[in-house]
Amino acid sequence: MTSAPPKLYVKSYGCQMNVYDSQRMADLLGRDGYVETAGPDDADVIVLNTCHIREKAAEKVYSELGRLRVLKQAAAEAGRRVTVAVAGCVAQAEGEEILRRARVVDLVVGPQNYHRLPELVARTSNGARVVDTEFPAEDKFDHLPAPSAAATRARGFAAFVTVQEGCDKFCTFCVVPYTRGAEVSRPVAKIVEDATRLAEAGVREIRLIGQNVNAWHGAGPDGSTWTLARLLERLAEIPGIARLRYMTSHPRDMDEALIAAHGELPALMPQLHLPVQSGSDKILAAMNRRHRHDEYVSIIERLKAARPDIALSGDFIVGFPGETEQDFRDTLALVDAVGYASAYSFKYSPRPGTPAAEREDQVPEEEKAERLARLQARLEHHASAFNAGTVGRTVDVLLEGEGRLPGQLVGKSPYLQAVQVMAPTSSKGEIVPVRITATGSNSLFGTLVSASARPGGPAVDEPRVASAGF
Ligand code: SAH
Ligand code: SF4
Ligand code: F3S
Repeated sequence: MTSAPPKLYVKSYGCQMNVYDSQRMADLLGRDGYVETAGPDDADVIVLNTCHIREKAAEKVYSELGRLRVLKQAAAEAGRRVTVAVAGCVAQAEGEEILRRARVVDLVVGPQNYHRLPELVARTSNGARVVDTEFPAEDKFDHLPAPSAAATRARGFAAFVTVQEGCDKFCTFCVVPYTRGAEVSRPVAKIVEDATRLAEAGVREIRLIGQNVNAWHGAGPDGSTWTLARLLERLAEIPGIARLRYMTSHPRDMDEALIAAHGELPALMPQLHLPVQSGSDKILAAMNRRHRHDEYVSIIERLKAARPDIALSGDFIVGFPGETEQDFRDTLALVDAVGYASAYSFKYSPRPGTPAAEREDQVPEEEKAERLARLQARLEHHASAFNAGTVGRTVDVLLEGEGRLPGQLVGKSPYLQAVQVMAPTSSKGEIVPVRITATGSNSLFGTLVSASARPGGPAVDEPRVASAGF
């Protein structure tokens, strides 16, 4: 009689890098026979892959651990051992403290150490509690198995590839340089190898990810150091790869070659996430962002000159220490100048160990909440205008999965908008021309345009007319 394979449940709380890490942990334990399960109830190993970026994100993990305590106890009474691991950025930031705060935790593992997960899980089998958050000398990527073609297919037609990790920027509000360590770029050959394998498994879109992805400067096969623009060009040559995106970028690292690539490289999608955080020069300086309001706007103008229909997104923090009403208005003015297609905005959250948390001129909570509401109303206005601007246009959509209604598939436009369209299930993974007919709250609606009805067929893009919101 063969026993059932052990089950693994991994939950992600953080950014795309965190989601990517969760997938790699599943690949790693998958090599030892673990199969993924949809929830914690029947799992033998539970990994919470945590985020430390804001207080709320970090606190979520402790409430989840409270629930897992009950679950683990019940399993133990039924004679089943459950291993609970805390991974990710809270693990890195708090280490041993997690073991003290939560008895249920067997293992704490940092973002640079998870390639050792199978060995660490084994070490907990006799009841030992283990912490591994040292920054290791070896490169974890050399120890991670490639996902199987089946696992890749199950994850869809757009896949992440980490090209860069860590951050040397030290914005005064941010924990990432402490939780992820110094900036490291992976070499071109490794990235091309990963992307080729994904393409062979059916992936059509590669999203290059890194905490500071446009600071990437990796070793080329010829021994020279490549820029991100050159890497994108190389990846566009891989058969099967039709679309490229990259995130998250820092304005300081937006070089001319990369801006030009948005106009010259057809596979590079007309979409860019370029966080600015604030529109006030005083606050930008206090944040250590190392650029001014007008410098950011000038980058945006050059991007729009290279690719007039580019969909821009950003991140904003309101209520950074010392932010006045006038500083906040400078942010609103920047938002209006750029006209973002989408954005994330947050109330400033003081993080332990960061310089801004020590400041005495913290902004009261009510003021932060009031500014956030005003900012979000402006951002919402621009996002709606951008989406409305695509109605009536025909855009290429990469069909990725089941849509909201039976018979519908959902996919992504070049601008990263979700589009619902009636299409046969067999067309999943295809890039098809879709005429956008309406906007909804979280997605757009469209109809398939048959290749014959479209002059030039689906390979030819629409003439790029600037419409409202661009
Ligand atoms: N590397 C990226 C983003 C990293 S974190 C960059 O440089 O922009 C993602 C976003 O979380 C940030 O862009 C910022 O808007 C937000 N964030 C980071 N620290 C924060 C804090 N202490 N309080 C509120 N928001 C924060
Ligand atoms: Fe954090 Fe700034 Fe680095 Fe982005 S650039 S990860 S906000 S320190
Ligand atoms: Fe969070 Fe760590 Fe990402 S703090 S945002 S999971 S790098």
